[in-house]
Amino acid sequence: MISHSITNGINGSANIPGDKSISHRSIIIPSISNGICEINNILKSDDVLHTLKAFKDMGVKIIESNQKIIIYGQGLKSLKKPGNDIYLGNSGTSARLLTGLLAAQKFDTVLTGDSSLSNRPMERISEPLNKMNAKIITSNGMMPLKIKGGGLTPAKFNLKIPSAQIKSGILLASLNTAGETFITENKVTRDHTETMLKSFGADINIKKIENTKLIKIIGEKELFSKNIDIPNDLSSSAFFIVSALINKKSHLILKNINNNSTRNGLILALKKMGAKLILSNERLNNDEKICDIEVKSSELNGCEFEPEMADLMIDEYPILAVAASFANSPSIFRGLKELRVKESDRLKLILLNLQNCGVDCHTKNDDLYINPSKNYKINNNTIQTDFDHRIAMAFAIMGTRIGPLEIKDSESINTSFPSFISEINKLGGRVI
Ligand code: S3P
Repeated sequence: MISHSITNGINGSANIPGDKSISHRSIIIPSISNGICEINNILKSDDVLHTLKAFKDMGVKIIESNQKIIIYGQGLKSLKKPGNDIYLGNSGTSARLLTGLLAAQKFDTVLTGDSSLSNRPMERISEPLNKMNAKIITSNGMMPLKIKGGGLTPAKFNLKIPSAQIKSGILLASLNTAGETFITENKVTRDHTETMLKSFGADINIKKIENTKLIKIIGEKELFSKNIDIPNDLSSSAFFIVSALINKKSHLILKNINNNSTRNGLILALKKMGAKLILSNERLNNDEKICDIEVKSSELNGCEFEPEMADLMIDEYPILAVAASFANSPSIFRGLKELRVKESDRLKLILLNLQNCGVDCHTKNDDLYINPSKNYKINNNTIQTDFDHRIAMAFAIMGTRIGPLEIKDSESINTSFPSFISEINKLGGRVI
């Protein structure tokens, strides 16, 4: 894929697909609840379709009708042993969440993934679950995972790694485990699992004391289904927001965007950098905060962001780094350790590709330093993505300013945003 530079800005109303994190949970939770769930605006991307297929393979009746997905849930203990190993493609969220859920089933399963997912750390989920007596055999800490279902006991967790995937895996394991499981979280991670479990009737209690969140969940309580209307994904919107900010003559509208305060760091960060962003029509939808966003071309200032910001926007650093490359002063982003274990080593690829684009930047430990210039002299216009969708989309947006940039292995974009190219081109992009 080649992204060419543009001169007339990014303009119009962007169609952003449904939120990826909520889409996964909208399949998993109704599949183990009682009753029928109609899901509106689910993200139909490779990652989510892998989760969907896993539940069909475990005997859940799931049909598509009038653009909606309908799930006929039969309760906590209704899943059946799948005929084959469960293949999850590139989806880390599916892998971590299903490991927890499957550890508490009455059958054994094997989880596999593509070569990128097979190189990502899985002990971060298997080790905490071992505390509940789970029997999970990893392949040197990675996929495939052999999960022997059942026999779990409740436990108390103090989450060491700030990860919603780990927290959610434990919560899903605890649903089928008699007794009280406690989770203490000292850093913020996205809370979609707790929010949905609560609204489906789980026996879950959440207390916040300053920066600490205490979750108590009592297992073996049946859940009851509800219809779900999925908001549009802020993480996917981020590429369009930044494309409008860094290109002159832009004016963009985004509607029904997820503005959950556990993951809206991008909005806070860009506003601090001076972005012309107006949030309006803020409201609740299925207990999730949503809003409309208006964006105009902006003169951005460089900024320093502490590690706490990383907790609120870990997926958005590739595109924030692109925005910072067009600011009028340097930026420092601190505490980006978790970026190294995403779909790629994102910190390494942000640095490599920005440097190829001529940006003066470096890392020190897990901190990223960007010294922007007025004009860039491209050293190498081939962007290495290691099949990471967010690196590919971030540098496609970089290309709208300094292109042409050739983005390698860009088919990875299908994992989260299959309509990305047509959508950016509709608004003024030139991505071929
Ligand atoms: C996700 C959690 C985050 C995020 C990922 C989606 C989720 O990962 O990076 O894209 O849906 O729970 P971690 O929980 O590992 O930080």
